[in-house]
Amino acid sequence: MARTILALGTLLPAEMEALERDFNVIRLSKEADPEASLQEHRNDIVGIITSPMKKANRHLIEALPNLEIISQFGVGVDNIDLQAAKERHIVVTNTPDLVTNDTADIALSLLLSCARRTVEGDAYVRVGHWVNGPMPHGVTLTGKTVGIVGLGRIGQAVARRASGFDMNVIYYGRHEKPEFSYSYYPDLMKLAEDSDFMILTVSGGPETRHLVNADVLKALGPEGFLINVARGSVVDEEALLIALSNKEIAGAGLDVFENEPHVPEALYTMDNVVLLPHIGTLTLETRTKMGQLVLENLQAHFNGEPLKTPVVV
Ligand code: 8YV
Repeated sequence: MARTILALGTLLPAEMEALERDFNVIRLSKEADPEASLQEHRNDIVGIITSPMKKANRHLIEALPNLEIISQFGVGVDNIDLQAAKERHIVVTNTPDLVTNDTADIALSLLLSCARRTVEGDAYVRVGHWVNGPMPHGVTLTGKTVGIVGLGRIGQAVARRASGFDMNVIYYGRHEKPEFSYSYYPDLMKLAEDSDFMILTVSGGPETRHLVNADVLKALGPEGFLINVARGSVVDEEALLIALSNKEIAGAGLDVFENEPHVPEALYTMDNVVLLPHIGTLTLETRTKMGQLVLENLQAHFNGEPLKTPVVV
């Protein structure tokens, strides 16, 4: 009999079909009564597929006595209670590397659209304002300083791109990475002070919650921009709203928010922000490869083979 997998999130159709060929799949979002369905199948479920917006919390993990694997569609695993999984010897896998370049591209896209006002420019043409004169000035990127918070895989890919734009790269992280020539800042406040653009690429979770608070935003200053492609939780969103509306920072480019898919309405009317619906990895190529890796990890686990990309806790 086919093994049962609980799908909290979904893969692209081709990968979802492949999953359904090999496993008995319970798609929670399609169940009329998700709680009743969970109760009915709780002893059968041996695997979960999920993604950053769908929580695999302690309550869920403990409700499934035969759970063996959680296969995450994404690199960040802050939606999964890793400690609860570890206590039960449940393995967790993710999709690193595949997401790196597309996410870095979105960081640069936000940086460009904040500095050169391209999103605003598009609207300026469409609504017919051009005939009335030029739109407001943007700011030059060449020679400016990009402060990267978290020089992991995505941070490094952002650094390479920013260097390609002739920008000066500095970074903050828990440890210095001497293999890179970018200047290391052990102090986030100091990094914010020296950055024209502060780009967040650090992992989410309790350790980085509200790392960027009112003080850091003040240090970034009225000419500084904040770009976030990491997790909404890394920024104190209330403090950000205040800093933006008081023009304590120049602007923000945001692909992630604290309570996705809900975005604070106050942001909708601000002209110094560019807002995206968490599209860091939203390309057909990358989402296809991510789905395939989710499947490969499940198959490897149930075939008794080494996992492709285990999360080491
Ligand atoms: C999500 C992400 O996986 O990789 C991550 O950590 O945040 C994204 O790539 C994607 O949004 C699917 O939910």
